Amino acid sequence: MSHRRLRLGVNIDHVATIRNARGCGYPDPVRAAKLAAAAGADGITAHLREDRRHITDTDIQRLCDEIDLPLNLEIAATDEMLSVALKHAPHAACIVPEKREERTTEGGLNVIGGFEHLKPFVARLSDANIRVSLFIEPNIEAIEAAKALNVPVVELHTGAYCDAPTGAKRAAILKRIKAAADHAETLGLECHAGHGLTFDTVQPIAAIANVQELNIGHFLVGEGIFVGLESSIKEMRRLMDEVARS
Ligand code: PXP
Repeated sequence: MSHRRLRLGVNIDHVATIRNARGCGYPDPVRAAKLAAAAGADGITAHLREDRRHITDTDIQRLCDEIDLPLNLEIAATDEMLSVALKHAPHAACIVPEKREERTTEGGLNVIGGFEHLKPFVARLSDANIRVSLFIEPNIEAIEAAKALNVPVVELHTGAYCDAPTGAKRAAILKRIKAAADHAETLGLECHAGHGLTFDTVQPIAAIANVQELNIGHFLVGEGIFVGLESSIKEMRRLMDEVARS
């Protein structure tokens, strides 16, 4: 059995959430990104929201200037975010749905209903050599629509899986995620996954052979309060590596 290098993208949004709670300069999300790099992250993920409630435009600029790891910029499909992405040209852009009133990204992108809106948006990013992924629910129709939009990557939303009680309900959602990952592979799409993952929920997702990257943030930052961010990232990395074999 050989090891597959499952990539870990560390989302540093909630370091900025804590900073913004007091409107001062600390804790610094860029410092967290540097620490994540040293602790074994393969990439940094940051979500620039319309209301800038955590990450700011200056943070994005600094992440581009100061971090060597690939940056995965999460954005909604709006004109404003398109200009931000084109200005910074990050390694990757993950298109997420965004409602101002939600506390976090509550569901996957409506790829079917939003197809015509997304088409030119994806094309503009791809033309700028930004690797585009779509954050979608783990279902076959969404994957087919993503393929038709010509994106190279889909990220499967693991929120419902993480929120479900352990047992039959969670197992059923896991089965859907596996089927979606299989279908993505059949269509030649790279498959990522994320949202809500913790030490308790990460391994069944990391064990899915064709999932190549996990993006994890809130739990790592929260756990970092107790054990230090470096330890929380290292433990996540260890749990992923333990099962990520092909
Ligand atoms: N992937 C995507 C597309 C997201 O929007 C988020 C949350 O910003 C995550 C992964 C990470 O989720 P969490 O912070 O719950 O680990």
